[in-house]
Amino acid sequence: MDSFRHILGLRGMSADAITAILDRADALKPRITDKTKRGNELKGVSVVTLFYENSTRTIMSFLMAGGYMGAIMNDMSVSTSSVNKGESLFDTGKNLEAMGIDIIVIRHQQTGAPHFLAKALDAGTGIISGGDGSNEHPTQALLDLMTIREHFGFVKGLKVAIIGDITHSRVAKSNMFGLTTLGASVALAGPSTMVNAGFAKLCPNVTVTTDIKAAVKDADVVMGLRVQLERQKMSPFPDLREYSSLYAITPEILKLAKPGAMLMHPGPVNRGVEMCNPLMDSDRSYILTQAQNGVAIRMALLDLVAKARR
Ligand code: CP
Repeated sequence: MDSFRHILGLRGMSADAITAILDRADALKPRITDKTKRGNELKGVSVVTLFYENSTRTIMSFLMAGGYMGAIMNDMSVSTSSVNKGESLFDTGKNLEAMGIDIIVIRHQQTGAPHFLAKALDAGTGIISGGDGSNEHPTQALLDLMTIREHFGFVKGLKVAIIGDITHSRVAKSNMFGLTTLGASVALAGPSTMVNAGFAKLCPNVTVTTDIKAAVKDADVVMGLRVQLERQKMSPFPDLREYSSLYAITPEILKLAKPGAMLMHPGPVNRGVEMCNPLMDSDRSYILTQAQNGVAIRMALLDLVAKARR
């Protein structure tokens, strides 16, 4: 039986638990665009976003999600906080817990930071991961699953091609776990310096290749990933133009997928690098639907974690 006391990753999360989150998000989605549907289920619940790395989509969608459900939302701006005076993650968390914070949403550059905080604060405060190092980004994968299920009506049996910087991508890992748990197959592709054949052993129905055409062939969904130059120790390719000439998603590449295949990207996009501009702005692109569904998924998660801790 899964518990929603913390949301730390999709590895090991059951299909029933993922489906419960997606169902709740579907039900809550209308309140994003319809002001009359906004509610107060989370009245009195206090939530802090604690982001040690930059973010636009994840942080803003959590802040909006909490607001649409009546929670007390605050961002602890790490760059102007006492973290810069050397305060540890443990002490920061303990001080937030002492202030009565019910849920902390954390993004951290270190793999395992959300798990560490969940262990330290389990009695008082729920932890939701907004992404840790190159480990997992569970809320992103959940919004991707929601977007795919919303389009097709199901996930089982679909083929999802994920293209780019696989090794450093927490989005690729969480998607791989979530998609295969719901019965999809996943083809991971990127330059040899950016893929890890070992990923195919982490869960069933995952293939790893350097051949973008093989990965995209007959795919129902083609997902680009951001080239994360900030996480590279050494340059994995001569320059971005070289990467783009071999691995950008172009109309010719997309033609290899099934007719009408969805084009997705978690953002932020390096425009013209991971996919060509006209495709990104075309009706094949679900990038802004992903951003919108991010609010719905985060409403569902705040609701489920708050309920699990009552
Ligand atoms: N997709 C995603 O995590 O975007 P942000 O870094 O802007 O939150």
